[in-house]
Amino acid sequence: MKTKLLNASTEYTKAIRDAARLLQKNRLVVFPTETVYGLGANALSELAVQKIFAAKGRPQDNPLIAHIADMRQLAQVASDVPDGALLLMERFWPGPLSIILPRHPAVPATLSAGLSTIAVRMPANEIALAVIRQAGLPIAAPSANVSGRPSPTLAAHALEDLQGKIPLIIDGGPCEVGVESTVLDMTGETPTILRPGGVTPDMLREVLGRVAIHPGINEALADGEACASPGMKYRHYSPRAEVRLFSGDKKEVEKTVKSMYDLSKEKGETPVIFCADDCAASYGERTTICLGENKEQIAASLYASLRRADDMQMDPILFHAAEEMGLAVLNRITRAAGGGGD
Ligand code: TXA
Ligand code: MG
Repeated sequence: MKTKLLNASTEYTKAIRDAARLLQKNRLVVFPTETVYGLGANALSELAVQKIFAAKGRPQDNPLIAHIADMRQLAQVASDVPDGALLLMERFWPGPLSIILPRHPAVPATLSAGLSTIAVRMPANEIALAVIRQAGLPIAAPSANVSGRPSPTLAAHALEDLQGKIPLIIDGGPCEVGVESTVLDMTGETPTILRPGGVTPDMLREVLGRVAIHPGINEALADGEACASPGMKYRHYSPRAEVRLFSGDKKEVEKTVKSMYDLSKEKGETPVIFCADDCAASYGERTTICLGENKEQIAASLYASLRRADDMQMDPILFHAAEEMGLAVLNRITRAAGGGGD
């Protein structure tokens, strides 16, 4: 199959129209969102949803997120929406928050990997919203990468992973947020964060009061432990290179990373150090990728930097982690380093 790439800044109308038509025919389309690029399909079609799993090589037990463009579409995918969830929608939608709700019976169970619940979000990206609106359908969309690879924050990343497997990619430029949405379970007694993202625990607590963070975040799941969000058990977001994570006292970490780097060089490897901008100077002549000055910049550059390390055949990645990078980035890099169980 030939994969067409349409640029939304020069061919907007055609891009939206072609995408909507393909989605209505139960075919797959990659479109930008504010978090990462999504691989979209008609959320109400079993066949279309199955195509997503096939194109990504995604395990069948990892559920997808349904994307909507207006509140009317909410009723097509979820039922019994609690008041707390409505408050969150008012405050954070459109935006990087996926809310887990009881699944509407009309949505194929495959979308939710057989669960009776469904994750729903309204993305804050004009192109995404226009595609969903014009298709007139809720759209199931995981990140548009091959399963296990870093999520795409540029159309080029999606092309690299999915070329030949899908008919259309809309290029809408770089994604602003850069890490996937916060996933919040609203079906239990206490609202629980299953995946950290752009909407932080404190932001959610301002609206809901009590919000729990699932213990599976940032720590390996014990064998056989019940898994609230099936996505948590897979090694995710990984470049081809080995990722080694270092955290703790800044000066200590710098010392360790330097000696690991020098050892790796001596072995004939091509190591690279990932760090926040303010640490770069201390690594001197060593090959370093600076991720940014603050947690927003670091989130926005993380996945592209992981792919860049692969393109430049750098291996291992020595990642100087710091608390200021934020829960979302630390969660993704922990997983890239193999934490969270495979
Ligand atoms: O920002 C995002 O959320 C991006 C863009 C494209 O919207 N999408 C995305 O989708 O990251 P995906 O499929 O890569 O991640 C979906 C996550 C997985 O961790 C999955 O396990 C969890 O959401 N999830 C989905 N439905 C769930 C459900 N019913 N119960 C628990 N977890 C669920
Ligand atoms: Mg993903």
